[in-house]
Amino acid sequence: MEVLRAESLTKTYGQGASAAHALRAVSLSIEQGSFSAIVGRSGSGKTTLLNLLGGLDTPTAGRVFCRGQSLYDLPQRQRDAFRRRHIGYVFQFFNLIPEFTTLENIRLPAYLDNRNPDDDLVAEILEKLELADKIDRYPAELSGGEQQRVAVARALAQKPDILLADEPTGNLDRQTGCKLMELLHFSHRYFHQTILLVTHDMELARETERLLVLSDGQLINDWKGEVL
Ligand SMILES: Nc1ncnc2c1ncn2[C@@H]1O[C@H](COP(=O)(O)OP(=O)(O)O)[C@@H](O)[C@H]1O
Ligand SMILES: [Mg+2]
Repeated sequence: MEVLRAESLTKTYGQGASAAHALRAVSLSIEQGSFSAIVGRSGSGKTTLLNLLGGLDTPTAGRVFCRGQSLYDLPQRQRDAFRRRHIGYVFQFFNLIPEFTTLENIRLPAYLDNRNPDDDLVAEILEKLELADKIDRYPAELSGGEQQRVAVARALAQKPDILLADEPTGNLDRQTGCKLMELLHFSHRYFHQTILLVTHDMELARETERLLVLSDGQLINDWKGEVL
């Protein structure tokens, strides 16, 4: 089943001679339960594409459908609400709230959405991500690796239809970056989480099931399930 679809997504910054064509009519479809990577050089349009897919920006042309709902046909407030409910993010800098404990950080998105967190799921995530004994700690009292686990736990606890990650390993050393990738692979296997990862690191991208290559705002390759 399809969870996310882009149709001729186009984004142009500025106008006339100085216009930057960040995305040129990109179309793609993401299947439920898949783990895909978007790769491309710096400036190829990866962040622009991911933000548009996640409802965080507005396209110049084209559409995005999440579970059949056209994101940019929704008024801003409804789109924000839809996004919170259906789309999860892992940011490069984990964006944990320093005044909140591990458990509070993980439960926060549900509260923002006027829902009660699914505490059975939260407990399972805490156990599987080896955070159960860290629930009362503040981010400053956690190691970098623990902070990234909290950020992933927070996203998983929302049971998003898709988890989007924009170069989550970008500011990490190789070893910590590998741990984060292991965590994403675990989330995919164990929680059947659909994941779309943006990276410029070909080695990390090759570990996923599907590789989408962006170049100069265009999707120039789409490999699925082949040995690369
Ligand atoms: N807010 C903006 N204003 C003008 N140009 C932008 C803006 N954001 C991105 N761009 C341009 O769009 C292109 C794609 O950028 P981006 O999506 O950030 O690429 P990537 O994430 O692959 O490095 C680049 O040429 C960049 O300079
Ligand atoms: Mg980027």
